[in-house]
Amino acid sequence: MTVITTIEDLRVLAKRRVPRMFYDYADSGSWTESTYRANEADFQSIKFRQRVAVNMENRSTATQMIGQDVAMPVAIAPTGLTGMQHADGEILAARAAKAFGIPFTLSTMSICSIEDVAAGTDNHPFWFQLYVMRDRDFIERLIDRAKAAGCSALVLTLDLQILGQRHKDLKNGLSAPPKLTLTNMLNMATKPRWGLGMLGTRRHGFGNIVGHVKGVENMGSLSEWTAKQFDPALNWGDVEWIKKRWGGKLILKGIQDVEDARLAVQSGADALIVSNHGGRQLDGAESSIRALPAVVDAVGSQIEVHMDGGVRSGQDVLKAVALGAKGTYIGRAFLYGLGALGQEGVTKTLQIIHKELDLSMAFCGHTRVGTVDKGILLPGSY
Ligand code: GLV
Repeated sequence: MTVITTIEDLRVLAKRRVPRMFYDYADSGSWTESTYRANEADFQSIKFRQRVAVNMENRSTATQMIGQDVAMPVAIAPTGLTGMQHADGEILAARAAKAFGIPFTLSTMSICSIEDVAAGTDNHPFWFQLYVMRDRDFIERLIDRAKAAGCSALVLTLDLQILGQRHKDLKNGLSAPPKLTLTNMLNMATKPRWGLGMLGTRRHGFGNIVGHVKGVENMGSLSEWTAKQFDPALNWGDVEWIKKRWGGKLILKGIQDVEDARLAVQSGADALIVSNHGGRQLDGAESSIRALPAVVDAVGSQIEVHMDGGVRSGQDVLKAVALGAKGTYIGRAFLYGLGALGQEGVTKTLQIIHKELDLSMAFCGHTRVGTVDKGILLPGSY
């Protein structure tokens, strides 16, 4: 096997090892995928200023996100169906994050449940991402379950009460557990490691939901299911009751627009995430890294601003931090690691990004992420 030194190496290996239906789910955007591509591409046009003969000894990438110590300004993003990229994927990724000293965010649409992840990490606090469904009793119970599991932040997603169309998911008939059509079975037969892992776990469906929502025994296809269950009426009034019910640190995910960023400040949330959902919702929206500076200018002194979308390297993290993000999130980057090599692959993802961040920061003349600002970027390139 080739030596793995980049996130791209992990992506290539994950594509070989994960059934097409689930690999495609992770590695795609909505409609023409223009926003999905822009998220990555727009990082490339931003240039650093290289500095030399600066003492680069004793460096640290450690900082804080919402008052919590983190080994680097990177958290694991909430991603749906993570336990389908690799058996027990959420538990494995949470363990890797815990060992590395960064936050892990569990998605509502996870395969392992809140309780599974808490037990699998010896109750190490993680963050929980909430989708709001029509069944509000279920949402209240879900919030209470996250509290009971000791989750240390709630990440409320505001940009997915309806689902952007992803062509591949519709063509593949995406569902969890996977529908055993002939095409799916033939494809899975070529992924023996994945299959063996799945035989070794009982977690094959949406662990937070099946058995917890009245009448939901079987999810059917993801698109049909979200259309039926997710609440299209979600609005800022709901943010208020959710904040009250939760009572802890609240992060609002999916803000792209300055006006929405101001509303996020008014809601009293602790942080917001500049995000277009990895290019999976409104195709044609601006990339996150391009949207970030205006949001930071407008509200950065009033609320902690984080970002996600297109982060595939430590250089990307450094550029986001330079433009005012106090934290970034990686979704696909860790999913590739997980699909390729399980927990070890997620650790590899974190090591690669950390090393790139540490060295790039030093090349720009800084030994602490806390001192990084726009000054490390070439004027006119951002
Ligand atoms: C969220 O669950 C997504 O599929 O983007």
